[in-house]
Amino acid sequence: MNTTDIMNLALEMSGFRHIPDDSEIYIEGSSLKKVLFGIDISNSDVYMAKTLGYDAVIAHHPLASSTKGFNVFKDNINILVEAGVPEESAEKAVADKYDSLRIAAGSKNYDDVVSVAKLLAMPLMNIHQPLDEIGRKLMQDAVDTVINKNPEATLSDVVEGLYCIPDFKRARTKIEILAGDDCSKAGKTLVSHGAYTNGGYDIANTCFEAGINTVIYIHIAYPDYVRLKREKKGNLIVTGHIASDCAGINPFIDRLRSEGIDVTGINGII
Ligand SMILES: [Fe+2]
Ligand SMILES: [Fe+2]
Repeated sequence: MNTTDIMNLALEMSGFRHIPDDSEIYIEGSSLKKVLFGIDISNSDVYMAKTLGYDAVIAHHPLASSTKGFNVFKDNINILVEAGVPEESAEKAVADKYDSLRIAAGSKNYDDVVSVAKLLAMPLMNIHQPLDEIGRKLMQDAVDTVINKNPEATLSDVVEGLYCIPDFKRARTKIEILAGDDCSKAGKTLVSHGAYTNGGYDIANTCFEAGINTVIYIHIAYPDYVRLKREKKGNLIVTGHIASDCAGINPFIDRLRSEGIDVTGINGII
C-alpha cells in the first residue's frame, strides 16, 4: 500500500468521496510495511520513526491541514439537520465557533512537524474526519440500539450501551453524565462528533431547543459545560477524547493490519 491507498481506505470505510479539509498527505510514500500511528504526532515522533525503521507516520489530529481544517466544523450543520434541527438554527449554531476556529488557525505554526518529516524524507499524513466519522457512527449505533430496545432508557442505560465499544472499556477516562441524572430519561439522543471539534454551548443548546433531549460530546470546554448544566435544558454525556478518537481509529488500524501493514500505535492509540 502507498499513502494514497491508506487515505482511500479511510475514505471508503467512512463513506467520504473526497479528502476532507482536516486530512492530508504531506509526504507521499509507497511499499509501506511498517507504520507509526499517533493521535498526535510531534517532531520527535517523526525522528523516532526514522531511527526505528518505520516507512511512514500517520497522525489523527491535523498537522498543516489545520490551516483549512476548521471548514470541517460546518459539517455539524448536516449532522444537526439530519437529527431534525431546522437548517437556519443549525447554521446559526455553528457560526460563532467556526469564526473562532478560523481566526485561531491563523496563529498556528502549521509547518513544524511537516518540515521535519521533509528533512528526514519520512512519508507523513494525517487522517482526521474520516476516522471520527467511523467512531461517530459506531457510537450513534450503540445509543440507538439501547433506545430502540427501550424508549424509556435512562442516561445510565445509554452510558452502559456505549461501553459495548471496547475502547471505552480500555480507557483510563470514564464516560460521564455532565448534565442530567443517571435515572433521567435519555429520550432523543444525538452523538455530536466527527465535525472537527465539539460544538460547545451553541450546538448543544440548539439541539435542546429543537427537541433533542440528550447530547453526547467526546469533550467540552468547562465554561460551556457550566452554562449547559445551569440552564438545565437537556442532558449532556461526555465520553472522553482519547477513548472516543480510538473508537474510530482502531477499526481502521485493524483494517491496515489485515492488509499486511505492521502498525504501531502511540500517543493515545489505546
Ligand atoms: Fe478525532
Ligand atoms: Fe481528537
